[in-house]
Amino acid sequence: MEAVIFLVLYIPMASTMLKSAMDKPQAFSSFILFACLFSSTSALSDAEVSYIARRQLSALPEDGQLNLDIDKQVGINATFENQRLKRAYVALQALKRAVYSDPFNITGNWVGPHVCGYTRVFCAPALDDPNLNVVAGIDLNHDDIAGYLPVELGLLNDLALFHINSNRFCGIIPQALSKIVLMHEFDISNNRFVGPFPDVFLRWPAVKYIDIRFNDFEGEIPPEIFEKDIDALFLNDNRFTSTIPETIGKSVASIVTFANNKFKGCIPHSIGNMSNVNQLIFINNELSGCLPGEVGMLRNLTIFDVSMNSLTGTVPESFGGLESADVLDISHNKLSGVIPESVCKLTSLSILSFSHNYFSGEGSGCLRRDIEVEDGGNCLGSRPNQKSSEECEAEVKRAVDCSKDKCSKGSSTSKPPPAKEEEVILPPNMGSRYSSPPPPMFPGY
Ligand SMILES: *[C@@H]1O[C@H](CO)[C@@H](O)[C@H](O)[C@H]1NC(C)=O
Ligand SMILES: *[C@@H]1O[C@H](CO)[C@@H](O)[C@H](O)[C@H]1NC(C)=O
Ligand SMILES: *[C@@H]1O[C@H](CO)[C@@H](O)[C@H](O)[C@H]1NC(C)=O
Ligand SMILES: *[C@@H]1O[C@H](CO)[C@@H](O)[C@H](O)[C@H]1NC(C)=O
Repeated sequence: MEAVIFLVLYIPMASTMLKSAMDKPQAFSSFILFACLFSSTSALSDAEVSYIARRQLSALPEDGQLNLDIDKQVGINATFENQRLKRAYVALQALKRAVYSDPFNITGNWVGPHVCGYTRVFCAPALDDPNLNVVAGIDLNHDDIAGYLPVELGLLNDLALFHINSNRFCGIIPQALSKIVLMHEFDISNNRFVGPFPDVFLRWPAVKYIDIRFNDFEGEIPPEIFEKDIDALFLNDNRFTSTIPETIGKSVASIVTFANNKFKGCIPHSIGNMSNVNQLIFINNELSGCLPGEVGMLRNLTIFDVSMNSLTGTVPESFGGLESADVLDISHNKLSGVIPESVCKLTSLSILSFSHNYFSGEGSGCLRRDIEVEDGGNCLGSRPNQKSSEECEAEVKRAVDCSKDKCSKGSSTSKPPPAKEEEVILPPNMGSRYSSPPPPMFPGY
């Protein structure tokens, strides 16, 4: 099961591979090996990053939009199979010019009008006209390319798939990309992008898969993103600081990852209305308040991980409704009370971790041997490796009544305080279960 979490959080990949890996667990091992082969990215220095970002800025029109004469760009001598391929040519040449380093010479053959023959560029019949061949996909995953995204990419009106994960792209996501109205899968994970949550995502009518994890995006998540018909939204490992929008309850996504950001405030009660959710991953944020009982309504949820936050109060009895749960991890919070018997007895669990909290009791069913139960670092008198009685007594005095919790009437809508300009350094062992790179071999797979 841990391999799943490694994959979800730490090995950005093409969604198609993700989906097939999820359907076929035995595909994991070859997949991990594949991912490790590409771990030799030579990092950009900060000076190079700012150089590339400056190049993008100087090339960026003031309104961020694209206003250019295609024919002037191309020159009159070139002949193209159709007008759309001519536009694609302009876009791809602009992307090639925006590349600063291309160690595998991927763009080396991006020359001349036959764009469908360019490496990593995929053509297909146009959706609205099967007689026209158009550029439908660009897949530069793991190509170690450094550069930025030029506004001319907005000319790729037929592009449905854009994968550039595990490269060294920097700068911002240009507004002009909102013109790519067929965008379906957008994966820019594991690059060096900056700026606020790109609102071009909100303007793509058909987008299903958005993966922006492992970048430096910051600020708030617009509530509207959860009202879109998106299957998967990977936000983990950025610098987001907002509360979790109340609209999350309207989301039809099956996977949403918030891990390793600075999300704060409560987990909204509306979460119980997520209709298709399969994995919810909140690891290592600054979430507070009580666990909403509505989580127990998510009968198809397989992974619920809120470890390493500042949640308080007790575990709702209703969590016994998580009948599909494979991983339930509430460790490293400030939770207290007794782990309900209903949770201990969940039949589909393989990992139940509530270690490093202030729990003073656990249902007898939690002493089971058939799954991994982590209960250390609590106030469970008879169990090994517990907190000192002084520490436990002090916490009992601070006990939280979740019915009077500040979040009991929905999450706070007040603006979070302005982010402090300080470096956050995690304790070295924090989250080691997930954040260390995957070991080279996976015995058992
Ligand atoms: C058009 O011709 C000019 C001059 O011969 C050449 O430099 C340019 O690359 C040509 N354009 C294309 C798209 O082949
Ligand atoms: C890059 O690829 C192009 C086209 O395949 C080739 O002509 C060129 O010599 C290559 N450059 C390097 C540095 O290998
Ligand atoms: C969940 O959805 C139901 C039905 O649409 C609605 O009545 C309820 O208020 C929603 N719950 C929350 C907490 O948003
Ligand atoms: C769980 O998934 C099944 C099958 O996809 C679906 O029919 C059902 O409505 C889901 N249940 C909930 C509570 O989301």
